[in-house]
Amino acid sequence: MSMRAVITLFGATGDLVRGKLIGALARLYRRGVLSDRTPILFVGRRDYSLPEFIASTGYTPREGEEGFLGLWHYGRMDIERDGIEVLDALLAPLHERHDTGGNLLTYLAISPHLFARVVPLIRAPRPDAWSRVVFEKPFGHDTNSARELNRVVEARFPEESVYRIDHYLGKELVQTILALRFANPIFEHIWSAQVVDHVQITVAEEVGVGSRSGYYERSGALRDMVQNHLLQLVALTAMEPPESLDADSVREAKTSLLRAVRTPRCMDFTTGQYARGTIHGEEIPAYREEQGIAPGSTVETFLALRLTIDAPRWEGVPFYLRTGKRLSAREARVDVVLRPPEAGFLRPWVDKLSANVISIRVQPDEGVDIAFLVKEPGASMRLGEAVLDF
Ligand code: BG6
Repeated sequence: MSMRAVITLFGATGDLVRGKLIGALARLYRRGVLSDRTPILFVGRRDYSLPEFIASTGYTPREGEEGFLGLWHYGRMDIERDGIEVLDALLAPLHERHDTGGNLLTYLAISPHLFARVVPLIRAPRPDAWSRVVFEKPFGHDTNSARELNRVVEARFPEESVYRIDHYLGKELVQTILALRFANPIFEHIWSAQVVDHVQITVAEEVGVGSRSGYYERSGALRDMVQNHLLQLVALTAMEPPESLDADSVREAKTSLLRAVRTPRCMDFTTGQYARGTIHGEEIPAYREEQGIAPGSTVETFLALRLTIDAPRWEGVPFYLRTGKRLSAREARVDVVLRPPEAGFLRPWVDKLSANVISIRVQPDEGVDIAFLVKEPGASMRLGEAVLDF
């Protein structure tokens, strides 16, 4: 069924719209979720005509996307100066022409420090209309600012219409974690301190800060990756089973796990920043040499963290998290490393070879594998490593 609503995207000329959202909307169009009754209003500060805006995005329709550009509209608005009437004037003709019933999805693909400024520019939804408002992380820069922002948002929109997005949750292999853990006795029964030695969660990136210096200098790896993407991976990997798959139950299971995470101390983490070097033979500037970065910046582009979870299931099981930009490979994965077996008679082999590891490869080579030891064919007892790969 196609959707009848106006989609408004703030941050039209930003990285997120260009890099992710246009492609995502194009896929929804191909699948028939978006139709000519779903106009898309891109809102940006630049004084573009629609063709100029289209050209600036570099988007060209693929097969099945003919007609997608027909949904696009561009509206100029300076969110730091303009008032609510400017957005009203952009939206009114679209609602009317496409008979949307006032339905509105608003996506704030803008720098987070502007959220509180933009919220009052969006009208509270009409009671009879469908409404969604989507925020990208980081939601505030610390607990107090996140609470304050929540107050602004709650004063305007009903909670059911507010989406605080973490795009990692859309990744297929992240969603697989729940299926793997709770649909399979072979995993369900070993998922605890009795069998698990430690867990490693890695999100390594090859990309640098790119053109996002303004944002990244305020954020750093902790706010950009850890408090959101990596903690979502921790929560899905470690939480107790939710009562059901509805949003409240899943959130409840995640938050009770996160509450059990002990506040890390200095000795639990280390940070770093990328220096000049080469990746795949290409010369890469240091973080401090990137455009828009302060030459003496101390913002971290790498972070490694040891978490302890005060829950009976995870007693004595460290969770090691690490993430960074400009690392030697792009790879996101969760490795659940099991304890060595109790029986000692094969111990020399077991110690020499790798332990049992269950690996969830989130990207790029999506899949799950289990590393284990087998007897190598032949007359004597020699062990070798094997991998079951899905
Ligand atoms: C974003 C971060 O949330 O996630 C970026 O702001 C990061 O810095 C990106 O590069 C990684 O996401 P993905 O899906 O490209 O792995």
